[in-house]
Amino acid sequence: TTTTVLDTLARPLRDLRISVTDRCNFRCTYCMPKELFGPNFAFLPQNALLSFEEITQLVRLFAQLGVTKVRLTGGEPLLRRDLYKLVEMIHHVHGIDDIALTTNGSLLTPKLAHTLKEAGLQRVTISLDSLDDEIFMRMNDVSFPVQKVLDAIAVADDAGLSPVKVNMVVKRGVNDKGILAMAEHFRNTPYVLRFIEYMDVGNSNGWRMDDVVTASEILSTIGDVWPLTPIDASRHGEVATRYRYADGLGEIGVIASVTRAFCGGCTRARLSSEGQLYTCLFAGKGRDLRTLLRSGASEQEIVEVLENIWHIRNDRYSQLRTEATPHLPKVEMSHIGG
Ligand code: GTP
Ligand code: 5AD
Ligand code: SF4
Ligand code: SF4
Repeated sequence: TTTTVLDTLARPLRDLRISVTDRCNFRCTYCMPKELFGPNFAFLPQNALLSFEEITQLVRLFAQLGVTKVRLTGGEPLLRRDLYKLVEMIHHVHGIDDIALTTNGSLLTPKLAHTLKEAGLQRVTISLDSLDDEIFMRMNDVSFPVQKVLDAIAVADDAGLSPVKVNMVVKRGVNDKGILAMAEHFRNTPYVLRFIEYMDVGNSNGWRMDDVVTASEILSTIGDVWPLTPIDASRHGEVATRYRYADGLGEIGVIASVTRAFCGGCTRARLSSEGQLYTCLFAGKGRDLRTLLRSGASEQEIVEVLENIWHIRNDRYSQLRTEATPHLPKVEMSHIGG
C-alpha cells in the first residue's frame, strides 16, 4: 500500500536522490575545490556507507510513501563497486518506475553501460561544462579531456540509456563564453543539453551572485541566434524549464535554481551515502537513518520516522535566498549529490 504524505507546503514526496559515495575522481572547482578536498581529506570509510541491502530497504519504505523516481548520484556514483547490483535491487522494488544516474562520465565504458542498462537503469545525465579542453580541464581540475566525456555520452546513448541529458554549470568569466558552442554542438542530436545556474551549495565554493549567469541571459544568448519556444514540463516538479528550437532541431533546458526558484514543486528527498536524510539541497543537517536501520527497528517504525520527517518539512531555501543565506552552514553537494 502507498500513502501520500504531504509536507507543510503541501508537497508530496516523489523523488529520492541517493548518493552512493562521497568520493569523486574530479575536483570541479565549484564543487570539490582541491584546497578543501586534498590528499588529507577524510572521506567516509567503507563501513560507514549504507550497504546495497540497506539502501534497497529504504527505497522500499520510501516507495510506500509515494516515491516513484530514484536518481543515483555521488560524488561520482560509478566509483561505487558493483553499482549495477544496486540498480538491479532497486529495479525490483514495487512502485519505482524511473531509475536514473548522474555521472561525470569518466568511468562509463560500453560494457558498464550495457550492464547498467540490463540491470534496469533507464537513463543517465552526464556533466560537461565546456567543449574547450583548456577550460574544461581547469574546471574539473584533474586534466580530464572533453573528448572522453563526449565518448561517454555516445556510449550511454548506444546502450539505450536515453534520452541522455548533458548538464553544464555556467560560471561567469569561466565557461560562459562557451554557451553558444555547447548549444551548437548538441543541437540536432538526440541529447538534451541543460544549463544550470551556478549555485551557493555547500560552504566551500566561494559563491557570489556576480558569478551567476542567469537563465534569462543564457536564453537570450541562444535565442538571438536560434529562436526558442517554451515547452511544457514533462512532469510535475521538473527542475528544468524546457525550450524547443523553433527550427525543430531539438530542445534545451535551463535549471534556474537561483533566479527562478522552483521550491514550490519540490518533491525531492536526498539520502547521503552514510544514510543521512536531507529534505533540501541546502539543508544544514540531515537525519541519521543508518543508526535507525542498524538498531533493528521494524519497517513500520522506520516508515513512521520517514513520514514524520516529511510531514514537518518546510524547506524552500532557494525562494528565501538572501544576501546572508549563502553563508549559513550547509551540506556539501559532493556529499548528497546535487
Ligand atoms: P530529471 O528531470 O529526472 O532528468 O532529473 P534532474 O534534472 O533532477 O537531474 P539532475 O541530477 O541532472 O539535476 C540537475 C541539477 O539541477 C542538479 O545537479 C542540481 O544542480 C539541480 N537541482 C536538482 N534538484 C534540485 C533541487 O531540488 N533544488 C535545487 N536548488 N537544485 C536542484
Ligand atoms: N551549482 C550548480 N550545479 C552544480 N553541480 C555541482 N555543483 C554545482 C553548483 N555549485 C552540478 C554538477 C552536476 C550536478 C550533479 O550538479 O555539475 O551536473
Ligand atoms: Fe565530482 Fe560532479 Fe562534484 Fe565535479 S560536480 S567534483 S564530477 S561530484
Ligand atoms: Fe527543493 Fe531545497 Fe532545492 Fe528548494 S532549494 S527546490 S526546497 S531542494
